[in-house]
Amino acid sequence: MPVKIAPSLLAADFAHLADEVSRIEPVVDLLHVDVMDGHFVPNLTFGMPIIRSLRATTDLYFDCHLMVSNPISLFDPLAQAGANLVTVHIEVHPDPTRAAAAARKAGLDFGLVLSPATPFDAVVPYVELCDLILVMSVNPGFGGQVFIPEVLGKVEAARKFVDSEGLHADIEIDGGIDPDNAPLARAAGADVIVAGTAIFGDPDPVAAVGRLRAAADGAE
Ligand code: DX5
Ligand code: ZN
Repeated sequence: MPVKIAPSLLAADFAHLADEVSRIEPVVDLLHVDVMDGHFVPNLTFGMPIIRSLRATTDLYFDCHLMVSNPISLFDPLAQAGANLVTVHIEVHPDPTRAAAAARKAGLDFGLVLSPATPFDAVVPYVELCDLILVMSVNPGFGGQVFIPEVLGKVEAARKFVDSEGLHADIEIDGGIDPDNAPLARAAGADVIVAGTAIFGDPDPVAAVGRLRAAADGAE
């Protein structure tokens, strides 16, 4: 399977979101939407009204990364706003069984996120509930941080576990990804590469997606 590229909306120009998204829509696979509440992380981003407005402008699959203290309460409103998948930090719900069930009930795909300090073991009993496992390669909260290479071992562990157990979850990596480290993430087993600054921070985001894709798939 070719790598999937997920631009992170956090690095887009918030005054021109629809234009930013429509420009890259033809060349990407999904849209990564970082929802932050100013509590689980110190930063505050966007929520349902913006997601709803964007939904009306694009058919892209919305991968909503919930960096919030109370994610389950957002599932129904997010589904109504047009989200497709929600990911919940395992640090927020160490037993995410109820969260997974609530996401399904809301009609959402479901995934779990590991912050850099959290070991893969934390999610092992719950991977079978997931459509996606997100391994963070920066500490959650801000775009434009430096990639933490130590998380690559966790991507490898996730890949091995999913394959050996015959599970279907995609493995996504998020934070500080650029054409230099994308091949490492891909070689470790990532299916989905999130990139904010490396795409929307580039004067030509479409060309930037092409460089990321070529770098990642060159590692196969
Ligand atoms: C960080 C977010 C990331 C971030 C990625 O908390 O989860 O999705 O936007 O941005 P870059 O690629 O700039 O690190
Ligand atoms: Zn994210």
